[in-house]
Amino acid sequence: MDYTFPVTRTKHPKARPQDENNLGFCNYFTDHMFMMDYDEGQGWHDGRVVPNEPIAIDPASCVLHYAQMMFEGMKAYLRPDGEIQIFRPDMNAKRMARTAERMVIPELPEEILIAGIKAVFKEDADWMPSAEGTSMYIRPFIFGNEISFSALPAKHYTFIILLAPTGAYYASNSGKLGTSRIYVQDTYIRAAKGGTGFAKVGGNYGGAMRASLEAKKYNCKDVLWLDAAEHKYVEEIGTSNAFFRIGDEVITAPLDSGTILPGITRDSVIQLLKKWGVKVSERKLSLDELVAAAKDGSLKEIFASGTAAVISPIGCLNVKGTDYPVADGEAGEIATRLYHDLYGIQTGTVEDYMGWTYPLGISVKK
Ligand SMILES: Cc1ncc(COP(=O)(O)O)c(C=O)c1O
Repeated sequence: MDYTFPVTRTKHPKARPQDENNLGFCNYFTDHMFMMDYDEGQGWHDGRVVPNEPIAIDPASCVLHYAQMMFEGMKAYLRPDGEIQIFRPDMNAKRMARTAERMVIPELPEEILIAGIKAVFKEDADWMPSAEGTSMYIRPFIFGNEISFSALPAKHYTFIILLAPTGAYYASNSGKLGTSRIYVQDTYIRAAKGGTGFAKVGGNYGGAMRASLEAKKYNCKDVLWLDAAEHKYVEEIGTSNAFFRIGDEVITAPLDSGTILPGITRDSVIQLLKKWGVKVSERKLSLDELVAAAKDGSLKEIFASGTAAVISPIGCLNVKGTDYPVADGEAGEIATRLYHDLYGIQTGTVEDYMGWTYPLGISVKK
């Protein structure tokens, strides 16, 4: 189906970022956004592109009280030929469907997600940054928008897509691969079996902030989460998935507990490693096994994977205040190769030998 949406152009264009090399993560938003409504009995309706301005929301709206909401995180990249492309959007749409099901939010069809992204890019393509390591972060989100204090699913929802020109999430990651320190969080948990860990919902992130703050005390960028039941097995790194290379095996936590966000980058890393003939296992890895490997020298690499983080190597693990360097503390061989191919495919500097990219059909001259 071909979608065309009405456009209301802004009368108050925003100030553009002065320095593309210092964008930070989502400090700027473009002039427009995509909006759409859902009403029970009517379905999704009235898609439109409107100025990205504050919206009115009733203080009694259910999302402000019971957090019935969901979101996604994607990026658009500028290819060397000036075309804008996104990465595996079908995977985001599938994850949205799983999150929606968990949160009793009406499913948003993949074609609306893509059409909405294209519609807002048509207006704001000239906001696309071109400096090394930059991209346009895309934040689609849906929230229950109804005056109600009953803790029941809403009957009216709002869907919005925001665009944010953005730099690298980890500052050390711009252009070349630096490493970060990570704190093993053994007090707070991110998600428990039967909860919402596998879904992309705000509550998972609000509940994690206390733990992230604690990591800063140890001069660490973020936390390595352990499982909720036993505080024994490693799960994720902050808002990224986690990979560990011990000897010749690359290990990542399995998804079957439902506590881990099934990252699109995670899936891409697994597929690339398999294609390259690297042994990759989705299996439980205990903190004890990890620390033993750090001590005996068989721990070769740790890296985080995610849309924001791309591939971010970890140079040191802090467990209860004790530092365990990861090999020589520098970015490892596999993380470096993954970054090269994955980021290269995303940005169009490496041929897309996996068929993962999706050009929007919109070009910009820089
Ligand atoms: C908790 C969590 N884990 C993992 C990821 C990585 O997922 P993706 O690779 O799809 O960005 C994210 C980021 O979205 C996340 O928030």
